[in-house]
Amino acid sequence: DKGEFRHYMLKEIYEQPKVIAACLEGRISETKVLTSCFGADSAFLKDIDNIHIVACGTSYHAGMVAKYWIEELANIPCTVEVASEYRYRKVAVPKNTLFLTLSQSGETADTLAALRMAKELNYLTTLAICNVPSSTLVRESDLTLLTNAGAEIGVASTKAFTTQLTALLITSIAIASEKGELNEKKQAGLVTALRSLPAYVDAAIKQDEAIKLVSEQFANKHNALFLGRGPMFPIALEGALKLKEISYIHAEAYPAGELKHGPLALVDETMPIITVAPNNQMLDKLKSNLQEVRARGGELYVFGAKETGFEEAEGIYYNEVPWVEEVLEPIVHTIPLQLLSYHVAVVKGTDVDQPRNLAKSVTVE
Ligand code: M6R
Repeated sequence: DKGEFRHYMLKEIYEQPKVIAACLEGRISETKVLTSCFGADSAFLKDIDNIHIVACGTSYHAGMVAKYWIEELANIPCTVEVASEYRYRKVAVPKNTLFLTLSQSGETADTLAALRMAKELNYLTTLAICNVPSSTLVRESDLTLLTNAGAEIGVASTKAFTTQLTALLITSIAIASEKGELNEKKQAGLVTALRSLPAYVDAAIKQDEAIKLVSEQFANKHNALFLGRGPMFPIALEGALKLKEISYIHAEAYPAGELKHGPLALVDETMPIITVAPNNQMLDKLKSNLQEVRARGGELYVFGAKETGFEEAEGIYYNEVPWVEEVLEPIVHTIPLQLLSYHVAVVKGTDVDQPRNLAKSVTVE
C-alpha cells in the first residue's frame, strides 16, 4: 500500500529514518557495537585479516563505500567486486579472508553463484548483509546481518541501500574494535553519531520541495555527470545509476580527480554536473575540479552542508544538506540524489516504480 504517496519509491525514501532505526535496534549500546548481532559466536571478527565484498548494482555501491570504512577504521585490506565478474575468474584468497555479500533480495543469481563458489574456496567464513530473512542467500551463508528495511517494492533501491550502509558501518566498527584498532572513546563517538543517523536522514528528506524545484531543470537533459571524491565517489555512482534507471537519462559518475583524464571533453553548457560535497580536507580539491567544469560552461548542481561554503551563483544550483559527522556523509548525502532522480522521473513521466526492461530481483544471469 502506497498510502499518501504517489509511488512506492517516494514512500520508501520517506521510510528511511524509521528503517535505519530498525537496522540499529539491538545492535548498539550507548557506547559500542554489540558483536552479538553477528550470532552467538562472534570470535571470527578478531581473526579477519582481509575482506572480499561481492555484490551487484546498488548493493555493489554499498560495498564500495564500506571499503573506505573498513580500511580507515579497521586497517584491513578490502576488495569489492561485482558478482558477475567474481564468479567467472580464478580468485586468490589470502589467509583469514572474510567473504561478504550484500543483497537486498538475497536471490540475485550472480551473487548466489559467487557465494557457492566462495564456499569451495579457503575463506574464513561467509557473511551476508541482506534484507530478506527467508532468502536463499541468508540460508546458504554461514552468518547473516539483516538490514531490517522491510519490503522494498520500487525497482530502484533506496531504503535497502541506506540500511545496507548502516549495517556495513556497524560491521566495520565491530571488526575495528575486535582487531584492537579502535579505542573505546573513538568507538563511543562513532556510536553516538550512528544514534543521530535517523534524525539526520529525516532532516535531509526535508529538502524534498527544494529538490523538486531543481529537478525541473533536468526535463530536457540527455546526459548528466556525477562527481565525487573518496567515499562520495560510490555515492556519485549510485546517484548516476538511480537517474539512468528511472528517468532514462544517460548518466555517468567519475571520481572528481579523473575529470582531466577524459570526461572534461564532454562538458559544455548542455551538461549538468551533479556533486555531493564532503566537508573535509578534500573539499578544496573538489572545488577546483568544479571550477574547471564551470569554466567550460557546465551547469553545477551542488549538494553540501552550509559549512562547505557553496552558494547559488550563475550556473550553480546549490542545495543544502544537513551537517553530519564525516563518517555518516555517504549515508545522509544519498538522500538528495534519491529525491533528485525521483522528481526528474516524475517530470519526465516515466514509470517510476517499474522502469522499462528491469526486474526487482535479477534471478537469471
Ligand atoms: O537484490 P540485490 O541487492 O542483490 O539486487 C542487486 C541489483 O540488482 C539492484 O541493486 C539493482 O541495481 C537496483 N535496481 C538498483 O536500484
